[in-house]
Amino acid sequence: MPNKVEFNNDYPEITKSDEYYKIALDLIPAQTQTLAKGTGQNIKGVAPKFLQKGKGAHVWDVDGNEYIDYTMGVGPLSLGYAYDKVDEAIKEQLKEGITFSMPHPLEVEVAELIHRIVPNAESIRYSRGGADVVSGAVRVSRAYTGKNKVLCCGYHGWHDWYISITDRNKGIPQSIQDMTFTFNYNDIQSVIDSIDDDTACIVLEPFVFEEPKDNFLQKLRDVCTKNGIVLVFDEMWTGFRISLGGAQEYFGIKADLACFSKAIANGMPLSVLTGKKEIMSLLDKDVFFFNTFGGETLSLAAAKATINEMIEKKCSDLFS
Ligand SMILES: Cc1ncc(COP(=O)(O)O)c(C=O)c1O
Repeated sequence: MPNKVEFNNDYPEITKSDEYYKIALDLIPAQTQTLAKGTGQNIKGVAPKFLQKGKGAHVWDVDGNEYIDYTMGVGPLSLGYAYDKVDEAIKEQLKEGITFSMPHPLEVEVAELIHRIVPNAESIRYSRGGADVVSGAVRVSRAYTGKNKVLCCGYHGWHDWYISITDRNKGIPQSIQDMTFTFNYNDIQSVIDSIDDDTACIVLEPFVFEEPKDNFLQKLRDVCTKNGIVLVFDEMWTGFRISLGGAQEYFGIKADLACFSKAIANGMPLSVLTGKKEIMSLLDKDVFFFNTFGGETLSLAAAKATINEMIEKKCSDLFS
């Protein structure tokens, strides 16, 4: 008998989950497309392995057990599963088409919304996943400064420049690894000690587990300005979450570039790079940052509905 969400002492029956998992073991390396969704994250023999559907904050696994999903799709479900207003927007757009041969007005409409909300969004570009836009930020920072090294703090996705410094870096040339360095959050001296004349950008999650102490973000801003280094906020978790305008709005610090994904489209795969015009204008021609699905409309329709719903629910003073 499948579980319901209520206190109970029984472990859920997860036979179908295990059947899918057995097939995946043979066919799908790591059995997941997102590390944080894999079986290594949960209790073996107890947690389900495959989810079937969700509504609000609840999900049901393939065996019919119901759970409260505290991870919410590892970040993207900002409003909740199957949120009516967002789903309606997707369905309406679906009737008209998904991907077109020319830009679609939604690209402009969502850009206008983001421009009003995100403090540094003088200029806006889209992509599909978080790693895309952080990598775009690194590339354009290098082009803008004419420097090579990157200083980072936190997780920033699967691309070479970042994963090269982790212990899962097989397949990445040493020369790439030699250009990325880390620093400790809330430790401005570790930043000062790590930068040099070849540092192009500092990339960080504005906050993760600890809040910024002793004016850390402002000090970081000052170090970057003084040394001609591009400050990049990776706002995958903070954007459209700690406040509508993300950490920049919440802490009152402007980054040169900022990267968003996850919460912006309530589960649809959209990422956004925002920044100062002076830097972003390099994306006109000199720095290549284009992809086939960059203007896919279902995700943009979802983002427009998600952001408007957040505005309507007064998630920010900007619109009061
Ligand atoms: C802070 C941060 N940056 C970048 C990424 C990479 O995003 P994606 O997995 O969409 O490429 C993630 C993903 O979890 C993240 O948490």
